Amino acid sequence: MRLVDMQGRIVACSDAYCTLTGLPREELVGQTLTVVYHPNAREQMLHIFKKGLQSGSLPEAEQLKLRLWDGRKIWLDIRHTHFARKDSEAYLWSSFRDISKIKRTQKIRRDNEKRLRLLFDRAADAIFLTPFSEDFRPGAFIEVNDTASKRLLYSKEELSRLTPYSVIPAKLYEKLNQALKKLHTEATAVFQLQLLRKDKRRIPVEISLRRFKLDHQETIVWVVRDITQRKQVEKRLKETSSQLRDLASRIQTVREEERTMIAREIHDELGQVLTVLKIQLSLTANKLLPEQQEIKTRIKSTYGLLDNAVEAVQRISAKLRPGILDELGLAAAVEWQAQDFEKHTGIHCKCSLLSEPVSLSAEKSTAVFRIFQEALTNAARHADADRVSIFLKNRNDKMILEIIDNGCGINKTQINSPKSLGILGMRERVVVLGGSMEINGVPGKGTHIKVTMPRK
Ligand SMILES: Nc1ncnc2c1ncn2[C@@H]1O[C@H](COP(=O)(O)OP(=O)(O)O)[C@@H](O)[C@H]1O
Ligand SMILES: [Mg+2]
Repeated sequence: MRLVDMQGRIVACSDAYCTLTGLPREELVGQTLTVVYHPNAREQMLHIFKKGLQSGSLPEAEQLKLRLWDGRKIWLDIRHTHFARKDSEAYLWSSFRDISKIKRTQKIRRDNEKRLRLLFDRAADAIFLTPFSEDFRPGAFIEVNDTASKRLLYSKEELSRLTPYSVIPAKLYEKLNQALKKLHTEATAVFQLQLLRKDKRRIPVEISLRRFKLDHQETIVWVVRDITQRKQVEKRLKETSSQLRDLASRIQTVREEERTMIAREIHDELGQVLTVLKIQLSLTANKLLPEQQEIKTRIKSTYGLLDNAVEAVQRISAKLRPGILDELGLAAAVEWQAQDFEKHTGIHCKCSLLSEPVSLSAEKSTAVFRIFQEALTNAARHADADRVSIFLKNRNDKMILEIIDNGCGINKTQINSPKSLGILGMRERVVVLGGSMEINGVPGKGTHIKVTMPRK
């Protein structure tokens, strides 16, 4: 506390005032009030004081930052009371409170807020705050960051009058409502949506919602990520993989056509030539004279070679493409292949084939047959099986082929490995024709492959 007269002289002061200013009472009382201030500030302070006092404009309370005589800077909360003594001379009572600490804390808080605001505004994602009401509906935006305003082309002022429904296409309200409903039981929800900009253009986004309490109010924070690029990459990837699939399927077809052509050429052309050759030789041999017996024997010894050649031609052409597939159909081809497999590997094959002819297009029959061949090869190469059961049946409008071996059993890793190109090729072959393939293995029991192909 300090009491001054109208000239600004200190008349009395409290101990606390002495402590605050760092001066003993003797150096205060009787002096002008500016004695406590820094020499540079003294004149100005006195001027302000006198002017305020004379015009009666001295505020009742004020907060000032002052520089004291010893250089210390402090924040003071000051209250003034006018006071007149009996002899009618006026005085001024003033109380001083050091509020430097409070001011410092306030500044730190302000700086922190500024920093957080900056973070909020500069975030790469658009961020909104909305209240969350009982009826699942979020209210108008309470808070939006710069990114949100820039991305949606609305000013912050405009956004403060809008709700999320104003920046979402009406067609997607239902999807948003579903996510909000989820927010009633769970703290977060993540989903993809589109935002509607002020110019009516749409941006694909991923929204993550989080519910929390802000000043006792249920509030939602919306973090909205622009996924335009991600969507573009996804689209391109989809296109590329569909193109690759088409390409792979085309290569298969071309390869199959080529094999069929080569198989036919070898079988028909070469096979015929060899047969004619054998007949010619036999006729020639018959025409030889008895004394040419030696030549006759030599010619006859080539018959065996010719028979081997004919057999090789049949074997090679059947391997390229079994004629039986085109002539007698899938069931017959499967049976023939199973017998051939058993003959060469010693693995017993049990076929349960449908009696009625399978009505599959040539393309589908070929695909199923090739899958069957690959399955048998795998059973011989990897399974260590001694028996394979084969079922071919029609179920409704689908044809089903099952190949079951009693080997070691394929595992999940082998099925899904990108290195399992055989299995991948089998699956691709059915998938491009609208069918599907399931493959399961039981350790030590065997592997079960089921191919389903639509007949039409
Ligand atoms: N019938 C089967 N029994 C056990 N393991 C199998 C069977 N078929 C395939 N596998 C396993 O799955 C892997 C992938 O098969 P596949 O894609 O045909 O490739 P590849 O035959 O060229 O190795 C094989 O290497 C093998 O380990
Ligand atoms: Mg294989």
